[in-house]
Amino acid sequence: MKKMHVGPAKNCRKTVTVQGDKSISHRAIIIGSMAKGTTIVSNFLEAEDTLNTIKVYRELGVKIEKTKNKYYIYGRGAGSLRQSHEALYVGNSGTNIRLTMGVLSAKNFTSVITGDGQIVKRPMGRVIEPLTLMGAKFESNQGKAPVTILGGTLKGIEYKLPMASAQVKSAVLLAALGARGKTTIKEPIVSRDHTERMLKYFGAPITQSKGVITVKPGKEMKAKPVFVPGDISSAAYFIIAGLMMKNSVIRVKNVGLNPTRTGIIEVMKKMGGRIKISGLKVKNNEPVGDVISSTSRLKGVTIGGAMIPKLIDEIPVIAVAAAFAAGKTVIRDAKELRYKETDRIETVIKNLRRIGVKVEELPDGMVIHGNGGVPFKYADIDSFSDHRIAMAFSVAALSGENGLLIKDVECVNTSFPDFFDIMKKISVK
Ligand code: S3P
Repeated sequence: MKKMHVGPAKNCRKTVTVQGDKSISHRAIIIGSMAKGTTIVSNFLEAEDTLNTIKVYRELGVKIEKTKNKYYIYGRGAGSLRQSHEALYVGNSGTNIRLTMGVLSAKNFTSVITGDGQIVKRPMGRVIEPLTLMGAKFESNQGKAPVTILGGTLKGIEYKLPMASAQVKSAVLLAALGARGKTTIKEPIVSRDHTERMLKYFGAPITQSKGVITVKPGKEMKAKPVFVPGDISSAAYFIIAGLMMKNSVIRVKNVGLNPTRTGIIEVMKKMGGRIKISGLKVKNNEPVGDVISSTSRLKGVTIGGAMIPKLIDEIPVIAVAAAFAAGKTVIRDAKELRYKETDRIETVIKNLRRIGVKVEELPDGMVIHGNGGVPFKYADIDSFSDHRIAMAFSVAALSGENGLLIKDVECVNTSFPDFFDIMKKISVK
């Protein structure tokens, strides 16, 4: 496991691009594999998680090739997926395992799906439950992977999601495409809607109204070109570096600005962050634009309720910004953080304490006492092999007295293999 000394930096200035959005890259492969015709994907995220999704769908009989930076998915319709005689391996990806469980539930063959040491600890019962109501059968390790999916003929259901989870919602939507009768899903709080947008774009029979999503099966999806916008969850590290550092301006180009994902921008603005958007356009049903952030005097805020799903993956780096802000930040209603790659309430708090920040744990969040811009104390940071912890504390390292030593940095390859190259590019020493 590699350690890396990161930072400190004087300021951050640059125009950068980040690779394609992870959530949309997964969906392009999955939905492209279910559609009829060739889906050409540009700006696909080439990271461990999404490359594993390509492997899984190849195992299921789909031809997927790369030519000149574009991925070609030769879809032959949802009925064309073939049984894999090997266990399907998703690596670290919760999105791949949960969405693929939905897809495979509606197939009349048996599949086994599993992943790495973190995946086998994460809850799959939340997907098994609605898919079982639809008629699928499962064997699992007490609701955890490896999961055996005994697919079959499913029936449509009416389902009220017990938690705000786009992965659970998407698993049910993908299963519903192959079920008998219509499925309706009610969301208590809106979560990212990339699946709904892409299904509509591919011509699937899906409608949305007042928090209720309806799918009627029977219509074949047709392949469409997909441009994957830059990942706002990756851009978040540089947006926040631009706000925290002195004399800094960062522009991140072509970032996905789907309103179910822009909580980071809304909250950082509330904290006093100077953020501008330019060149807003819509590409394959997803808004895209440049995000420009510049040095700001940040102050503490309260974050909770319907805002949480809109920034759930950005909470580690928002916590770093809050630690550097003036005053108290309260994060509530974020219990879902406990079910991510690590328990991110615990792993964020442990590391914040190491760098000298006063923080209290709540069952569903934390209270961070911001230091008002005092450089962080030098320490060893344990990423706990969680990519978002490694990257969030690399941003803290820029504002450290003497940087920070980040342990197990390889985990950034899960979602952002060129993270440290871009960090080097933006930091002025
Ligand atoms: C994702 C949904 C979210 C998010 C994850 C990606 C997706 O998870 O945290 O990184 O692509 O659907 P949940 O569905 O568990 O909230």
